[in-house]
Amino acid sequence: MATRNTWKQKDLTGIETLSRAEIDQIFAQADRLLPTLDQEQSPPLLRGRTIVNLFLEPSTRTRTAFEISAKRLGAEVVSINTTGSSLVKGETLRDTALNIQALKADAIVLRHSSAGAAAYLGRALDISVINAGDGAHEHPTQALLDAYTLKRKFGKTDGLKVTILGDILFSRVARSDILCLAKLGVEVTLAGPATLVPARLAEAFPGVRIERNLRKALSSADAVMLLRIQHERQTTTHFPSLAEYTSQFGLNEARASWLKPKAIIMHPGPINRGVEVESALADGSRSVILSQVTHGVAIRMAVLHLCIGARAR
Ligand code: CP
Repeated sequence: MATRNTWKQKDLTGIETLSRAEIDQIFAQADRLLPTLDQEQSPPLLRGRTIVNLFLEPSTRTRTAFEISAKRLGAEVVSINTTGSSLVKGETLRDTALNIQALKADAIVLRHSSAGAAAYLGRALDISVINAGDGAHEHPTQALLDAYTLKRKFGKTDGLKVTILGDILFSRVARSDILCLAKLGVEVTLAGPATLVPARLAEAFPGVRIERNLRKALSSADAVMLLRIQHERQTTTHFPSLAEYTSQFGLNEARASWLKPKAIIMHPGPINRGVEVESALADGSRSVILSQVTHGVAIRMAVLHLCIGARAR
């Protein structure tokens, strides 16, 4: 089960710093670990290690997946949230992290509302820092599990066409997905309200296409990735109401009929049922939303093992 000792990265703070070879290495390790999720035990690749989940923003999927992944690999896991930490007493993030390192933890998995928080800690610490979402910047393990889901579904990523629909501007998932899919040879199309998919995104991400005609954006796709509206990061109103967003951009049965017969529906969660996607489609045969969640455990096991357990010292 051990991989060759070629992994060099202490931290995973974004897709931007990963090469295609490194993404392929994560996928290869996830392939080895995924079948063990249906067995009583996974290999104890992190036995004797301690991982601290420092989640300073809400999370269900990412936090639980990291916790299950670390425990399945035999690590001890300690979870800290905002209200349970000394951050509320005025301690800085850096001081909190230095104390966790002094407590002899081997890694911090960080979710934070500030872009760059994980990279900042990665530079400050000798132990590994894994980014579990930093503001509107990056959510690298979500992008890896999304791309891994595509690879498992279609047997490849090169040449696939993926349309990302919704609030791209404020989405760390979209940013990491765009970077990851581009590295894996996927053609990415962005669609949604012009206020949330501004033309400047095409300049920020060369090779990415913006399609204002929703029918064209959907009918060409092998997969459509739906995003929820990130109210918590929006400072002004970007469309009149959620009902109007749904009427113009929500995925319903009529719009889903424009998709190719084998196209799949993806969503990183949490879903706002009846807003960005009709409930029947989220639960329907095209949906791979819960497979994404399961793949997220294998991907996080692979990332934790590579950054903490298998890294060349
Ligand atoms: N996809 C995702 O990041 O979900 P959580 O906010 O529940 O972790």
